[in-house]
Amino acid sequence: MPKPIIVAIDGFSSCGKSTVAKQLAKQLSYIFIDSGAMYRAVTLYFIRHNIDLQNNEAVEAALNHIHIHFEYQADGLPATFLNNENVEAAIRQMEISQMVSPVSALKPVRIAMVKQQQRMGEKKGIVMDGRDIGTTVFPHAELKIFLTAHPLIRAQRRLLEYRQKGEEMDLDTVLQNLAERDRIDSTRAESPLRKAEDAIEIDNSNLDRDQQLHLISELVEMAKEGQFSQGRKQLAVERYLCVHSKKFNL
Ligand code: DC
Repeated sequence: MPKPIIVAIDGFSSCGKSTVAKQLAKQLSYIFIDSGAMYRAVTLYFIRHNIDLQNNEAVEAALNHIHIHFEYQADGLPATFLNNENVEAAIRQMEISQMVSPVSALKPVRIAMVKQQQRMGEKKGIVMDGRDIGTTVFPHAELKIFLTAHPLIRAQRRLLEYRQKGEEMDLDTVLQNLAERDRIDSTRAESPLRKAEDAIEIDNSNLDRDQQLHLISELVEMAKEGQFSQGRKQLAVERYLCVHSKKFNL
């Protein structure tokens, strides 16, 4: 049996990171952690308790009262729990999406979440997605993926998710929210979103979910064997994209 590895998947908002991380973890029988859900749960707590983001003491005190865990549901998908309450639906609402980036830019919030995330990966056999997984949480991950996609495609995917949940939304609102989150996430002082030097970049604009999973599974196999350079893995991606890209999946 090959040793379990850590797969870190980072990228901008709504690139499909969680979708593929979830599929991959299931395929490998690994743990899946959506680190963004943790920052969303903290944001929900801060909103409910009117925490002033400028007040460092209040932020630190609030963090002591926040316990986040994940539980697998009957549908086989993990749900996020905040202090033992299932908040999976609540944390996906636009109100949270609009507040989560300023909250996750706060140093005490990052310190608390990164500590928990590192504990979750102690035994490896984990797929975690987020913004700083390959750079800060698991800098020694055996496989680091940096996902990108065209902004309009990302907005369209997110819009579909809102509509499927019955939340009315228009494309421009989603597009603006994504652009603003990308701006804050990549310019903040504390572990800003950036591609780790040894990450493999995949633009999934023209891939469907199955193709993306297939490609990343190939990279996992290469990472498990441990003998392929970053260049070889990136070449595998470029070849796959040449053969499988469909023109604009909108
Ligand atoms: O993946 P998501 O869109 O649900 O993440 C929500 C926010 O959480 C995102 O805008 C930035 C923040 N985040 C972060 O700062 N670090 C992570 N590792 C994951 C998410």
